Amino acid sequence: MTRALMITGTDTGVGKTLLGCALAAAAKARRMRVGVMKPAETGCAAAHGDLAPADAQALIGAASAEFPLALVCPYRYPSPLAPACAAEADGLPAPDPGKIERCFREIAEQSDLVIVEGAGGISVPITWRFNYADLALRLGLEVVLVVGNRLGCLNATILSVHYAKARNLNLRGYVLNDIEPAVTAAAKTKAESLKRLVDVPCLGLIRHQRPVDAAIIDALFG
Ligand SMILES: Nc1ncnc2c1ncn2[C@@H]1O[C@H](COP(=O)(O)OP(=O)(O)OP(=O)(O)O)[C@@H](O)[C@H]1O
Ligand SMILES: [Mg+2]
Repeated sequence: MTRALMITGTDTGVGKTLLGCALAAAAKARRMRVGVMKPAETGCAAAHGDLAPADAQALIGAASAEFPLALVCPYRYPSPLAPACAAEADGLPAPDPGKIERCFREIAEQSDLVIVEGAGGISVPITWRFNYADLALRLGLEVVLVVGNRLGCLNATILSVHYAKARNLNLRGYVLNDIEPAVTAAAKTKAESLKRLVDVPCLGLIRHQRPVDAAIIDALFG
């Protein structure tokens, strides 16, 4: 049976693509057929009369996937905003959840594992009536939360976990990512604090500028 995982985060820029690529590459190395998706990507640069979705392209590369970009990333916007906001700001059609589902099903049919990267956090609006939690429910995705280890992340983690539970998501756990170079006193204490405050499993830690630990892969697929 195909497994499908949404990589969400406490915020934008916390390491979702980094983890998604590492998981995709690890699953590929295990001879799994890996599909990837970034259903809506914003902040896309113009390239050759089109919009280039950097995250989707990175995921495709990591998975050595052959799916066309139009299937992996059906919605792209120049403005670096939440998808619902970017669609309005750019005067482009908002994402259609039905179309995202059709793209996902087509990829999933040909995959053992599909990795779906969100945008920003779990309650970010894809449309004004449909957010990433709705997408996870609609597509039956397991969810992993990437926590960017910086000041404010305890609150963001607690709220994200609380919301995921309230929405009955299949939240597998969180990964704490040292996105900042200096290991400050605050950053050092986060792993322990989160264990005390959050009752979902810690699937692993990613150290600054270090490869993603295979233990995270095992925790998810082992
Ligand atoms: N552990 C780390 N060590 C060093 N740099 C990191 C680490 N994790 C992430 N980064 C860097 O931080 C930036 C943001 O990471 P990434 O693009 O994976 O975040 P994201 O959550 O996918 O962001 P977005 O919300 O834009 O999709 C990237 O430049 C990435 O290389
Ligand atoms: Mg990303």
